[in-house]
Amino acid sequence: MKTVKDYIRTIPDFPHEGIMFRDVTTLFSDPRGMRLAIDQMLAPYVGTRIDKVVGLEARGFILGGAVAHQLSVGFVPVRKKGKLPGKVISQDYSLEYGQATVEMHTDAIEAGEKILVVDDLLATGGTAEAGITLIERLGGEIVSCSFVVDLPELGGRKKLAGLGYDVHCLCD
Ligand code: PRP
Ligand code: ADE
Repeated sequence: MKTVKDYIRTIPDFPHEGIMFRDVTTLFSDPRGMRLAIDQMLAPYVGTRIDKVVGLEARGFILGGAVAHQLSVGFVPVRKKGKLPGKVISQDYSLEYGQATVEMHTDAIEAGEKILVVDDLLATGGTAEAGITLIERLGGEIVSCSFVVDLPELGGRKKLAGLGYDVHCLCD
């Protein structure tokens, strides 16, 4: 039987020379792959209180939406700067191939809500850490962070674990 990793392809030199881009669109486009990934992302949280799923742009929206649906909870997007229409809070961060700013609506999370963070891939952890910062600035409590892929050599998992966050990844 194929594993989640078997559905992911690698595109060399995207978006810049030297980057081995782990492309999950081939996982998403396969019905067995997509179901396998969502089922495996949900498994650690059976019986755990989660009030909302926060998905990180862009592929975290696809995974996070499916996870939120399965948990019957709401979904909140963390978006790149300038995309959200309401009042936002912002956080700058750096990642494997650049710098960026993410934003979240100020009324998207209430203080004390238990949050599951979802994205496709953990590399330096910059994106996830920025999302976590936004959530915590609004008083949300991080239950866990869930990713399909971890790139261990970039240190994101160690960084988040070192900060005390629970991290689940389906493959390296
Ligand atoms: C990728 C990936 C994660 C982030 C991980 O997104 O989907 O969100 O990088 O890298 P990090 O752990 O070093 O922060 P990208 O920034 O390429 O943006 P996109 O999803 O909008 O394509
Ligand atoms: N985000 C950061 N590094 C990445 C990589 N190598 N593949 C896909 N997404 C990424």
